[in-house]
Amino acid sequence: MRDLEQKVVVVTGTVNPRGIGLAIARRFAARGCRIVLADIDAEGAEARAAEMRSEGNEAIALRADMSDHASVLALADAVYGHFGTTHVLVLNHVAPTGGPGHGLLDPDPDSWELHARVNLLGCVYGIKAFVPRMLAAGEEGYVLATTSGAGGTGTMYGNGPYAVTKSAIVSLMECLYGQLRDAGARVAAGTIWPGVTNTFPSDEDTRQVVAFMRSSGLPATFTEPQEVAQNALDAVLSGSFWARPSVDDEAHRETVEWEAQIYRTRAETLIARDAPDAYLWGPASDLLAR
Ligand SMILES: NC(=O)c1ccc[n+]([C@@H]2O[C@H](COP(=O)([O-])OP(=O)(O)OC[C@H]3O[C@@H](n4cnc5c(N)ncnc54)[C@H](O)[C@@H]3O)[C@@H](O)[C@H]2O)c1
Repeated sequence: MRDLEQKVVVVTGTVNPRGIGLAIARRFAARGCRIVLADIDAEGAEARAAEMRSEGNEAIALRADMSDHASVLALADAVYGHFGTTHVLVLNHVAPTGGPGHGLLDPDPDSWELHARVNLLGCVYGIKAFVPRMLAAGEEGYVLATTSGAGGTGTMYGNGPYAVTKSAIVSLMECLYGQLRDAGARVAAGTIWPGVTNTFPSDEDTRQVVAFMRSSGLPATFTEPQEVAQNALDAVLSGSFWARPSVDDEAHRETVEWEAQIYRTRAETLIARDAPDAYLWGPASDLLAR
């Protein structure tokens, strides 16, 4: 998609003032798009939309619980009721994660169910609610979903519910990409891959997360939400499946090279039928539960 002027962009998971969802919404608004901020927290989303409007953007807030199919259908009805169309759908919401019970030696079914419903089924419900209408309109469109290195790059084995659902989101979007391609659709699919992003309450909190990740062997770098938003915009403009730092990105070279190494060793491990040690990464579950 090249011309974004007046296009309608729906973003989920948008309440955090330092979050990736809001940064993406602002990035598209700066290109003249009309914005829908969707979130389970209606008041928070309205506060963000009001801020965007006060800066001269066209933005509305809508409540949606992405774990609830009916709520997501109602979101699409409200978007089409208000704007009559959707061009870009960004499925960026995520369930709260990292608590006790995500370890698999004694897994908490409630934690698994929440992650599966919000992270994975929320994306399926989003596709169900929007994609048929986007296809029927016959206009150019784009559907992006946010994954994570946790499941997309090797496996962050310490947090099963997060890693498994983020891995599943990559497969989901690959399936959607292929099916849209086969249908000759003007709607495309892609994935957003943030690094450790400065979305935490303060820069210092984010620095501590980066330091914690590095202590577990991950060459994490401090990524700003605006960088992730630029990756998302670039993917839509260029028609790329990959909204992530390019292999030439000097600022994140260490991470890019670490990812490449994981992909290579994973492929070799699978072919050789070796144990998965080479592509399991990150802190153990007892460290995450602190
Ligand atoms: N922050 C990072 O370092 C990082 C790294 C890799 C991937 N990601 C991914 O990027 C995305 C955004 O991350 P973030 O840190 O900005 O997130 P965040 O935690 O700031 O925001 C998540 C949003 O999702 C909303 N939400 C939670 N449950 C919901 C539900 N049932 N229905 C609708 N909305 C719901 C929350 O209210 C919140 O606004 C997520 O998908 C996350 O997994 C983040």
